[in-house]
Parts: sequence; C-alpha cells; structure tokens
Amino acid sequence: MSDTLKAGVIGLGGISAQHISNYRKAEGVELAAGADIDKAAADATAAKYGFKGFDDWRKMLDEVEPDVVSICTPPFLHREMAVECLRRGIHVMCEKPIASTMEDAEAMAAAAGEHDAQLMVAYCHRWHPTIKKVKQLLDADVLGKPLFYRCAFAGWVEFADNHRASKMQAGGGALMDNGSHATDIYQFLMGKVSNVSCRAGTLLQSMETDDVAVMIFEGENGCFGEVLVGYSLPGDHTEFKIVGEKGVIKIEDYFSGPVLFQPKGTGEWLAHEVTPGDRFEGEFGNFLAAVRGEAELLSTAETALHVHKVIAAAYADAQAKGQSVE
Ligand SMILES: NC(=O)c1ccc[n+]([C@@H]2O[C@H](COP(=O)([O-])OP(=O)(O)OC[C@H]3O[C@@H](n4cnc5c(N)ncnc54)[C@H](O)[C@@H]3O)[C@@H](O)[C@H]2O)c1
Repeated sequence: MSDTLKAGVIGLGGISAQHISNYRKAEGVELAAGADIDKAAADATAAKYGFKGFDDWRKMLDEVEPDVVSICTPPFLHREMAVECLRRGIHVMCEKPIASTMEDAEAMAAAAGEHDAQLMVAYCHRWHPTIKKVKQLLDADVLGKPLFYRCAFAGWVEFADNHRASKMQAGGGALMDNGSHATDIYQFLMGKVSNVSCRAGTLLQSMETDDVAVMIFEGENGCFGEVLVGYSLPGDHTEFKIVGEKGVIKIEDYFSGPVLFQPKGTGEWLAHEVTPGDRFEGEFGNFLAAVRGEAELLSTAETALHVHKVIAAAYADAQAKGQSVE
C-alpha cells in the first residue's frame, strides 16, 4: 500500500455524498472511482467529481484496485460486497445497518476476523458532538448508577418508494434504519442490551415495513431504556435523556448542544458546551487512522452485530405482541 490511499465508493445515492466529500477532503487519499448499477448516476457523479465511474462494482475493484472502499448500497447488498472486498484485502467502510439479515451480518463479522483488512460499520452518531459530550460526562461518572434512558429519533420522511420500504432490501423499516442508530448510541454510552421488548407497525405510510416503533431495553448494567423511532411523525421529534442516581443528563438541541446536567437535589441545569464538529468527519478520521494502523476502529463489525441482534430480537417481540388485555 502506497502512502496515498486509493478510495472507491459503491452506491452513489443519498449517503454517498458524505463519503465522497470526506474522501475528497482527507489528506493522503485519492478518490479514484465510484460504481452504481444506475449507469447514468455513475457517469454523472464521476464527471462531477473527476473520478472513474463504473456500472459494475466488481469491475471497479478489478481495474482500480482500491485500498479502501465505501459501501453505500441498500443493506441486502452489503454482505456480498463487503466479503469480496475483505477477501481482496481492501479495507471497508460499510454503511449501517450492517446487513438485512442475521446470517449476512454474521458472515460479515466472520470475514472481518479472517482477513487482514478493516471493516467499519458506519454508525456515525458515535462521533456526534453532543453524544461525545454525554460520553465524557458518563465516563467521569457524574450520574452514578444509570436508571432510565430515553431517546427518540423520529420525524417525517416519505419512504414508500425507497429501499427502506422493502423488507427484502432493508430487512425492516424505521426500527431497522433509525432504531439501529439509536441502539448503537445506547451501546456506545451504556454498554450492551441484555433484553428488549418492542412494538413496531405500519401506522401511516403505505409501505411493507414499519414506519413507527418503540423499544424497551434492559441493559447489562441494569439500566432501563426506551427508544422511539419513526418516519411518520408530523415533524422532527428528537429527545434524549438519561436519569441516574446522582442526577439527570439531557440534550434539547441534538445538533449543537449544550448537554445539560442537573445534579440531584439542585433543580438547576448546568450547561456543558459542546465542541462543534461533524460526525462524518470524525468517523472518516477514525476509519482512515485505523487503516493506517494508527488507531482502533470505534465502530466495528462486532458492535454492529450486537445492534443487529437487538433489532432482530425487537422484531420478534413485536410480532409476539405482548400480553393482551381482556
Ligand atoms: N449513516 C447514516 O446516517 C445514513 C444515512 C442514510 C443512509 N444510510 C445507509 O446507507 C445505505 C444507502 O442508503 P441511501 O439512503 O444512500 O440509499 P439510496 O437509495 O439513496 O442509494 C443507494 C444507491 O445504491 C445503488 N445501487 C443499488 N444496487 C447497486 C449495485 N448492485 N451496485 C452498485 N450500486 C447499487 C442505487 O442505484 C443507489 O444509487 C443504507 O444502508 C442506509 O441505511 C446511512
């Protein structure tokens, strides 16, 4: 591997813009190629950014021989692409969720262990400035024993014509898409989930997958968590709060902060200012440093596999529908 990393992006839709811009601004990286099954999209994006466009991702790997590849396609394609890249020794930044099925997720985690290449699963909120500040406060033990965790990641997005509306392509709807982000944030801050209850349904939009879901967690640390996600709420509905034995942490402005902390018995909110930053920049910085052997990945196939297990258990519980009330 030369000093300059040659990068390629597979799937040139919505989220690829973040991958393209972060490779373009990273030092020591040449964004060499992009591939999309939609040839017109591949040609247009390639022309716009001056890289080589392909309508066949394997051809891109053969001809360009990238050192790092981003996978930005719908989840049902992640396994085939990631395993092939890893087999070739190419480092992979794969978009979340890790895959659309448990079998695929496990195969990807296994491949990451077998080959001499990194696999990051892009749970970008680990680098979100307000979440980083909450993590600092928790690491400083301001809360003591955590008791109750609440997070809502919901709003209105029309997804009827999107891959997220297809169970085969996405593996699930709002619960899989945003619920996996929210579960990963819980894991990052609080540790693993030991059990989960859930309701998930298609309440408003005309789609095969769920557009509203609620999960209740019990963490390995004993903390209870409640996570609400959805595409069909009338407007943005973001909430974040952790209650512990020594006080309460909350975020009112998820994007800019501050993170608020109320020590027990004071009734006063202390504002902890947040260092401005971009979560994608942090994520790419960590990925590229890990590729160069200068850092450990913060979001791995293993952490992503735990998220996938939580979401799969949540869907199973949602189907069982709990205890009925006569
Ligand atoms: N980290 C985040 O916050 C975030 C945000 C949005 C999306 N995502 C994830 O990124 C992935 C893609 O989502 P999106 O919103 O960009 O979807 P999208 O539909 O906008 O883009 C997907 C692209 O993949 C292309 N594609 C499909 N099959 C292909 C193939 N065989 N070869 C090459 N290209 C192919 C499509 O033509 C399309 O351009 C999903 O896993 C999604 O969950 C993550």
